[in-house]
Amino acid sequence: MHAHLVCFDPACRAQFDIREVLYNCPKCGGLLEADYDFSALDAPALKRLWRERRMDNAPLNQSGVWRYRELFPFLDDLQHVVTLREGNTPLLPAPRAAAYGGLRDITFKHQGFNPTGSFKDNGMTGGASQARLLGMKRVACVSTGNTSASMAAYASAGGLAPLIFIPNGNISYGKLAQALEYGAKTYQVEANFDQILALVRTLAERLGIYLLNSINPFRIEGQKSIVIEMMDQRDWRVPDWIVLPGGNLGNVSAFGKGLREMLAHGFIDKLPRLAVVQAEGSSPFYDYMAAKGSNPFTAQCHPKTLATAIKIGDPVSWPKAQFEIETTNGVVERASEQEIADAKATIGACGIGCEPASAATLAGIRKLTAAGVIDRDADVVAVLTGNLLKDPDYIYRYHTGQLTAPDGSPIAANFGNKPVLVENNAETLAALIG
Ligand code: F0G
Repeated sequence: MHAHLVCFDPACRAQFDIREVLYNCPKCGGLLEADYDFSALDAPALKRLWRERRMDNAPLNQSGVWRYRELFPFLDDLQHVVTLREGNTPLLPAPRAAAYGGLRDITFKHQGFNPTGSFKDNGMTGGASQARLLGMKRVACVSTGNTSASMAAYASAGGLAPLIFIPNGNISYGKLAQALEYGAKTYQVEANFDQILALVRTLAERLGIYLLNSINPFRIEGQKSIVIEMMDQRDWRVPDWIVLPGGNLGNVSAFGKGLREMLAHGFIDKLPRLAVVQAEGSSPFYDYMAAKGSNPFTAQCHPKTLATAIKIGDPVSWPKAQFEIETTNGVVERASEQEIADAKATIGACGIGCEPASAATLAGIRKLTAAGVIDRDADVVAVLTGNLLKDPDYIYRYHTGQLTAPDGSPIAANFGNKPVLVENNAETLAALIG
C-alpha cells in the first residue's frame, strides 16, 4: 500500500511512515495529512462497486464510510475497523428553510442521523480503527461534546479505553450523558476547549495515549466520506455551494481534501464553493479571513456562544481551512446568537431539526443570499452536523422565551412554540383548541 503521512505545509512536505504516532510535523510543527498513490484508481468502476456495496450485508459495505474505503486506504488490515454502521445520512429537501434562507431550494445533509448523532462518527470510525491497528490501549480527546460522545462509543465498541476531557459546565447534558453511558472516564476541567487541548496533548505524549481530536489525520480521512457519500447520493452532480459550521475547522479541511481528490481522479468535474459559518462570539477564522491576510491568525481567548459545539477560539486546523476556502473560491460568514436561534427553529419547523451549531448554516446562508454572494437559484447543500436532541435545554428555553445570550441579553422567541398549561377539563380544552 502506498500511504504516507505528509506535512501539510507546502514549504516542508516532509514524509513519514503511515504508522508513526504523530499529530504535527516533527520537522516544522505543521499539520499532517494522509497522502496516497491514487494512480490506479478507476472512477467509473469504483462508482459501480460502491453502488453494489449498498446492497451487501457485510458490515464494512453497510457503513456509509467504509463503503468508500478506496479513497482513504490508510489501513492495510481492515479487520481492525470499528464500525457502528455510521454514515448513510440522508439528503433532505426543506422548502420552508429555503424560503427563510433566501433560496429557491435547499438540501440538508443531516449528519445527526449518525449512530451517536453527529458527523464526528464519520471521522471517529477512522481514528479508532487506526488506534486499534497501532495496538493502542487508551484513547483521549478534548471536546465541546460531540467528539467525546463519538469517541466514547467507538472506543468502547472497539475494546479501547476512552478518556475524555471537557470544559466544565460548557457542554450540553445530552452529549455529556452519552460519554458517561458509553463508559468513558470523563474529566471536567476548569478551563476552555483550547486550554484543555494543550493540556491533553502533553498528557497523551507522556502517558502513551492516542489522541483522537481532529488534529489526528485519520479522523479527517474518515470525514472525507461525508462529501463522497453526498456526491454519490447526488449521482455525482456537484452542487454550487456546500455550507457548514466551523469550530476547530477539521470538517472543512476534510471536505476540501475529499473534494480535491475526487476532482483530481475523475469522480467529479468541478469543485463546489465551500462556505463556513462561525458563531459571532467565537469567530477567529472569520476575522482572519475578513482581514484578507493582512493580519496574522489571532486566537480568541474568551470565545462565547450558546452554540457550545463551536465555542472554540483557537482552531487548530485553520491553515488547512484557509487553503480549502481559497481553493474552492469559498467564503467565511458569521451569525449572531439570535440569527442562529431563529434559523434553528426554522429547521425544526421543517420537521428536520438540528443542534444550535448546525443551524449556523442556515443563518449564514440567509446573510449570504441577502448580500448577493449566494444566488437565489443556486444549488446549495447545507450540512447539519448534529442531532436536535443533543441540546434539548436550549430548545425549551428558546420556545418559552427564556433563552439569553452569553452577554445576558435576551434572545427573542421569534418562532417560539410555547407549551400551554391547561386544567384537566374537556370544556376548557375544546374551547382552547377550537
Ligand atoms: N457542528 C457540531 C455539532 C460540532 O460538534 C462541531 C465541532 C462543529 C460543528 C464544528 O466542526 O470543529 O470540524 O469545525 N465539535 C467538536 C467537538 C469541536 O469537540 O465535538 P469543526
